[in-house]
Amino acid sequence: MSNFHFDLQHRDAATGARRGVFVTPHGPVQTPGFMPVGTQGTVKGVTIDQVAATGAHMILGNTYHLALRPGHETVRRLGGLHAMCGWEGPILTDSGGFQVFSLGEINKVTEHAATFRSHIDGRIVELTPERSIEIQEALGSDVAMVLDHVIALPADTGAVTDAMERSIRWAKRCLEYANSDLQAKFAIVQGGLDETLRAQCARELTSMDFDGYAVGGLSVGEESSEMYRVTAATTEHLPADHPRYLMGVGRPIDLLENVARGIDLFDCVMPTRNGRNSIAFTDAGPVKLRNAVHREDRRPVEQGCPCIACRHSRGYIRHLFNAGEMLGPILLSIHNLTYYQRLMSETRSAIEADRFEEFRREKIAGWNSATT
Ligand code: GUN
Ligand code: ZN
Repeated sequence: MSNFHFDLQHRDAATGARRGVFVTPHGPVQTPGFMPVGTQGTVKGVTIDQVAATGAHMILGNTYHLALRPGHETVRRLGGLHAMCGWEGPILTDSGGFQVFSLGEINKVTEHAATFRSHIDGRIVELTPERSIEIQEALGSDVAMVLDHVIALPADTGAVTDAMERSIRWAKRCLEYANSDLQAKFAIVQGGLDETLRAQCARELTSMDFDGYAVGGLSVGEESSEMYRVTAATTEHLPADHPRYLMGVGRPIDLLENVARGIDLFDCVMPTRNGRNSIAFTDAGPVKLRNAVHREDRRPVEQGCPCIACRHSRGYIRHLFNAGEMLGPILLSIHNLTYYQRLMSETRSAIEADRFEEFRREKIAGWNSATT
C-alpha cells in the first residue's frame, strides 16, 4: 500500500477544474491548493503557527538553498526539515533545477550534472539528479521534485528540445536512484512554449511511475495567454488520477485560469514578496498600502478577512511601512497568504457546487474593478 494517494473527488462540467485530495504521510492536501514558499526553511517573516493559521496544507522548501546553507546533513542532524522548522504538515521540496538556472552565476550543464557557483560563498557545486534526490531524502520532505534542465526563454527549438530531452533522462535517473517509500516523486514537464514538445515530454514522463506531475518552465516572462495555452496543452496529456502542479505561479488570476486548465497545486513567492513591498491582494485587486490615500484610512485591508492584519486600519499599516517597522511586512505577508488560501478554499467550494465558471468570472470582474 502506497503512502501517497490522490483522490479525485469532483470534476467541473464546464472547464478542466478538479477537486481532489492528495494524501501524504504528514496529512492530506486539499486541491486545488496553494503552497507558501519557505525557501530557507522559513516562510519569510511569518511564524509556522501563523502559516498554519492562514489555512495552508503543504509548504515548499528548496534543495538548492538548504544544501548550501545550513547543509542537508545539518538539517538531517537537526531532525529533518519538519522538525527544524516546526511544520507538522506535508512539505514539498524543489530539486534545485530552477535555482541553478535563476541564481547560479555560471550554469554549465552536461549530461552528468548541472554545475554552478554558489551565490553564498562562490564555491563551485555540482548537482546531479542522484545528488538532488539524496539531498531531498536527507531533508525528509514528503514530495521530492526531479532535477530538471530549465532554460531561459525565448530559446531556439533545438535548445528547448535538448533541455527537454535531458530533463526526461534526468527524471528517469531520479526515479531509479530514489530509495524512500515515505517520499513521493514528482516529474516535471518541460518543452518551452512548444505544444508538440510538451506533449512528447508528458508522454515519456507518464510512461514512468511517478506519483505526480509538474508543469515547469513557465512564468519566466511569457505572456499570460501563452502560459495558459501551454498549461492546457500539457495537462491534456497527463493522467487524471495523479496530482498536477504548476511551478512558480502566480497571480490570483493565474491560479484561477490554470485551475480551469486542470492544475491542482501551485506555489509562488508573490504573496510574501508583494506583502513585504506593501502590496496587499484583495477582491478589488492589489492595494498599495504605502500610498498617501491610506494615511487616515480606517478601513481594514479587506473587509471580512479573518487575518490578524485586518484587525488594524489601512492607516496604521501604512504608518508601519513609512516608519520602517518590521511589523508592516509581517502583517501584509500574513494577509496575502490568507488571501491566497481563501481564494483556493472558495475555488474548491465553487468546483464542488458546479459553479466554478461563474465564480471565476465574478473574481476576475472584482480584480479588474480596482480603485485603490
Ligand atoms: N520553479 C518554477 N519553475 C520551475 C521549473 O521549471 N523547474 C523547477 N525545478 N522549479 C521551478
Ligand atoms: Zn487580512
